[in-house]
Amino acid sequence: ADLVLGAEVFNNNCAACHAGGQNSVINERTLQKGALEQYLAGGFNVEAITTQVTNGKGAMPAWGDRLDEDEIAAVAAYVFDQASGNKW
Ligand code: HEM
Repeated sequence: ADLVLGAEVFNNNCAACHAGGQNSVINERTLQKGALEQYLAGGFNVEAITTQVTNGKGAMPAWGDRLDEDEIAAVAAYVFDQASGNKW
């Protein structure tokens, strides 16, 4: 997947609540590896991120009807890459 596109999608759609990989709504549910391992349904992997982005969860909106498949794949790959490399 395209990490440059993923960063653009993230900045335009996710950073409102997840700037710097944080979570301004539920503070401990960050996008960092340890939090994803603990809280993300399905565990720390690209498929689980893709599912949550597509369907939403709780106060997080669903993106399945606002982003196309390539954009969702790209942003999921970007979040996984950032978290796995401890880049945020
Ligand atoms: C949780 C990604 C947009 C609010 C999460 C998680 C991921 C994620 C991977 C799981 C984090 C964890 O459990 O530690 C994204 C992406 C977005 C996006 C890639 C853009 C496409 C947003 C926006 C908001 C938001 C705009 C606020 C309006 C939340 C909340 C949670 C969450 C409240 C916790 C959900 C729960 O477990 O109850 N997000 N998010 N997200 N996100 Fe987002």
